[in-house]
Amino acid sequence: MKIDILLGLQWGDEGKGKIVDALTPHYEIVARFQGGPNAGHTIEFHGAKHVLHLIPSGIFHEDKINIIGNGVVVDPVVFRQEVESLGIDIATVRERLLISLKAHLIMPTHKLLDAAHEASLGEAKIGSTLRGIGPAYTDKASRNGLRVGDLLRNDFREIYRSRVNEHLRLLEGYGYSNDLKALEKEWFESVDYLKEFTTVNADYYLDVAMQTGKRVLAEGAQGTMLDIDFGTYPFVTSSNTVAAGACTGLGVAPGRTGEVLGIFKAYCTRVGSGPFPTELDDAFGQMMRDRGHEYGATTGRSRRCGWLDLPALKYAIMVNGVTRLFMMKADVLSGFSEVRICKSYTVGGKEQTELPYCLYDIEGLNYLTFKGWQCDITGCRNWEDLPQELKEYIQYIEKETGVPVTIVSVGPDRSATIYR
Ligand code: GDP
Ligand code: IMO
Ligand code: MG
Repeated sequence: MKIDILLGLQWGDEGKGKIVDALTPHYEIVARFQGGPNAGHTIEFHGAKHVLHLIPSGIFHEDKINIIGNGVVVDPVVFRQEVESLGIDIATVRERLLISLKAHLIMPTHKLLDAAHEASLGEAKIGSTLRGIGPAYTDKASRNGLRVGDLLRNDFREIYRSRVNEHLRLLEGYGYSNDLKALEKEWFESVDYLKEFTTVNADYYLDVAMQTGKRVLAEGAQGTMLDIDFGTYPFVTSSNTVAAGACTGLGVAPGRTGEVLGIFKAYCTRVGSGPFPTELDDAFGQMMRDRGHEYGATTGRSRRCGWLDLPALKYAIMVNGVTRLFMMKADVLSGFSEVRICKSYTVGGKEQTELPYCLYDIEGLNYLTFKGWQCDITGCRNWEDLPQELKEYIQYIEKETGVPVTIVSVGPDRSATIYR
C-alpha cells in the first residue's frame, strides 16, 4: 500500500483536524509528519470539541495507530497536557499512540528564545505562536538538537545541560535573564511521563505496515503558504509543510506515496504577520471572521480573512501534486450577497497568474464575482442538496485547477461532510 497525504493549501487552519478524523475509518494508521504544538487541529463530534496540537487527529478512533513522526518537534509539557485532556483513559492512549525516536524535543529555553527573537524583530515580527518551533528546528538543522531517542541515554541530563548553557548565552545576547527552575521541573516531570509511551523507529514501522497492506494517512500541519521553502518567506513556519515533507518527516520514499489530499477553505485566512493579497478589512472580512469563528485554535488570536486566492491555490496544488481537493467552510459564506475569487494579480503593470517572488510586489487583484447562495447549507449531506450558486462556485474552481473537489464540508461537526 502507498501512503496518502493530507495537507493544507493555504495559511493553515483549513480544517485538517476535522477531515483527518472523518477519514480515519478508511485507514489503519494516521501519522503526523511535521510541525509541533504551533498546530491547533479542531475535531467536533457527539457535541464535544477537541483541539489537538501534537497528537494525530485519528486518536479518537478505536483500533487505529497514531504516530508522531520524526519531522515533528515535541514539547513534552504540551504532550502531557494534551494526553490528559483527551478524555480517553491513559492505557488506551498508550495503545493507540507511538512516537518516533527521531522526533526532536522542544526544550524550555526554545520557548524563551522564540519570545526573545520575536521581540527583537519589533515591527518585523513573524507573529510566531511562541511555542519554541523556530529555535527547536534551528537546533535540529545546526545538529544541536535533542531527540526523543536521547531520553533513553544515561547521560541525557548532561547533554541537556550543555544545550541549555548554549541557549542561555544566546538569551543573554538578547538581554534576557531567566530563572529556569520552575520551567525545568515541569519539563523533566513531563519527560518522565512521555517516556512511559512506546517509542519506535517509525520509518521501519511504516515500511512493515505498508508491506502488510495497512493503509496510512499522513497528516500535515500548517499550510503550503507557510512552508519554509515555498511559503511567504520569512513569514513562514520552520518546516516543510508540503507533500515532500511527508517523505522526510516519516521516512517514506517518494515512490510510495499515493493520493495527495489538498484541503482549502472557501475563502482565505491567515494568522500572524506577512503578505496576504486578498485580505479584506471591510464588512465581508468581518462577516467571515464572525461566522467562521476565525480565532486561532492555539493562540486565540483573531485570524485575518479574505477572498479565495486562485493563483495561490493553483501554486499549492502544483508544488504538492494534489490529486483531490476538499473544500471547507462553504457554510460560512451563506447569505453573502456576492462571493469573489481572485483569478490573477497585477504586477509591474501586467496581469499575471503566477505568484511573484515577493507577494508584496502585487499592485492589484483581478476578481471574478459570483452570485452568493442565500440558504443555510449546514444540514446538507448530499451534493444534490447544495444550492446551484455554490455548485457553480465549486465547479469553477475544479475547471480552473483541473482537480476534483471530492469533499465539501458544511459545518465543524464530523457529520457535516459531503462526500462526492
Ligand atoms: P486545522 O488547523 O486545519 O485543523 O483547522 P483549525 O481547527 O485550526 O480551524 C478550523 C476551524 O473551522 C475549527 O474551528 C473547525 O471546527 C472549523 N471547521 C472545520 N470545518 C468547518 C466547516 O465546514 N464549517 C464551519 N463553519 N467550520 C468548520
Ligand atoms: P495549523 O496546523 C495557522 C503561523 C504563525 C506565524 C507563523 C510562524 O493549526 O494549521 P511558528 O509558531 O510556526 O514559528 O509561527 O506560522 N502558524 C500557523 N498559522 N495554523 C497553524 O497551524 C500555524 N502554525 C504556525 O501564526 O505566522
Ligand atoms: Mg489550526
